[in-house]
Amino acid sequence: MSEIMRVGIAGLGTVGAAVARLLRRQAEALTARTGRRIVLAGVSARDAAKERRADLSSAEFFQDPVKLAASPSIDLFVELIGGSEGPARACVETALAHGKPVVTANKAMLAAHGLHLAALAEENHAALAFEASVAGGIPIVKTLREGLAGNSVERVYGILNGTCNYILSRMEQEQLSFEECLKEAQRLGYAEADPTFDIGGFDTAHKLAILTSLAFGTRIAASAIDIEGIERVTLADIDAAAELGYRIKLLGVAQRTAEGVEQRVHPTMVGKNSAIAQVMGVLNAVTIDADAVHELTLVGPGAGGDATASAVVADIADIAKGVRSAPFGLPTAKLAELTRTPMRRHEGGYYIRMSARDVAGAFAKIATRMAERRISLESIVQRGKRGAPGDCVDVILITHATSEHLVREALDLIDQDGVIVSRAQVIRIERE
Ligand code: NAP
Ligand code: HSE
Repeated sequence: MSEIMRVGIAGLGTVGAAVARLLRRQAEALTARTGRRIVLAGVSARDAAKERRADLSSAEFFQDPVKLAASPSIDLFVELIGGSEGPARACVETALAHGKPVVTANKAMLAAHGLHLAALAEENHAALAFEASVAGGIPIVKTLREGLAGNSVERVYGILNGTCNYILSRMEQEQLSFEECLKEAQRLGYAEADPTFDIGGFDTAHKLAILTSLAFGTRIAASAIDIEGIERVTLADIDAAAELGYRIKLLGVAQRTAEGVEQRVHPTMVGKNSAIAQVMGVLNAVTIDADAVHELTLVGPGAGGDATASAVVADIADIAKGVRSAPFGLPTAKLAELTRTPMRRHEGGYYIRMSARDVAGAFAKIATRMAERRISLESIVQRGKRGAPGDCVDVILITHATSEHLVREALDLIDQDGVIVSRAQVIRIERE
């Protein structure tokens, strides 16, 4: 192993520039910890002239990230462009094909092509490291893959998207609009280039797909995730949740079931006093339920340049030291096919908000439909003042544990009865 390790970084945006700064700031400590001098030898971005607030003087600029990935002037390639296809995928495949270790934060690409890339890494005896792809600065990949190797995991769940947690927190704490909070998350560098990935729940799903593979030894199965985002969560839901003793969080949950693995992403009511409810702003939290360790929760910054750079640099340091792991904890041939447990089998409590016509019998009809489907109600409340007869009022139900398919059937019937005026808001309740 040569003393110097020459690093090439493709992508000099929020994360890439922060990695360049951190490598420089921690240069001496990294040499002491790894036994090697880590030098930024090459960079690539779209705009060569853009100010990056980082010292790139040691690096050659490559207009084409694929050329950087193949260049003999680097020993390790860091992909921080983003996107599951296009230049990001092309340069990662090129680096691996050249036998170069790769570090990436690109969960979208891993969720779509993780297995293929891990196989390519194996074939070419190259490392593929992606600590930064899940939960920003929280070292959850290493925790699941190495730290919990002696456990059988039952469930892994958590707040996996900093942008959504930031939006939901600020909406609740400052009564700001969804749009204002999203703009601020973008300004702070938390959001994806296309923020639909964040608010639509897709980014959480990409991360969950990676966690599921690590936790259960299964092949990545992002298409087997039921996904709902936070776009339909309103201040009315947030306030109602608070009154009822809950807080709304976007959770990703992967749970072992008798049939296989249930993977779901959706806004969730969590008890206001629960540990996960205290995780606010850009913080993420991941909880693992496993047989030996029982329950373990890691909390930390889930997005932003510095936090993510911390995870990227940890991977670079591991590679510099010669630490090598199978990317998903097992050789790719040993990863099992994931058997999906469908969402309609999900069991749990539900918050249901309906805008109902304020007419005699509307409440009774709703309660009857629920009873017909054997759904037991913990509470049913009307919110807001009554207006003129026939106006609409918000009716909020909290159910005891029941099945998703029964809730959907009851809501279809209530819809057909004509007592509600718009699609019901349904938020699942997660008990700790
Ligand atoms: P970003 O700020 O949008 O930066 C993207 C960078 O890629 C820019 O420097 C851009 O160049 C460069 N780029 C785009 N197309 C290119 C091409 N064809 N050739 C060379 N360079 C190209 O994105 P980011 O927030 O740093 O995110 C980067 C990756 O990290 C993504 O996979 C993201 O999902 C992941 N991630 C982000 C965070 C976060 O908090 N931001 C956290 C965890 C993981 P120009 O600057 O010249 O336009
Ligand atoms: N957009 C992502 C988030 C970045 O907000 O969590 C970190 O993966």
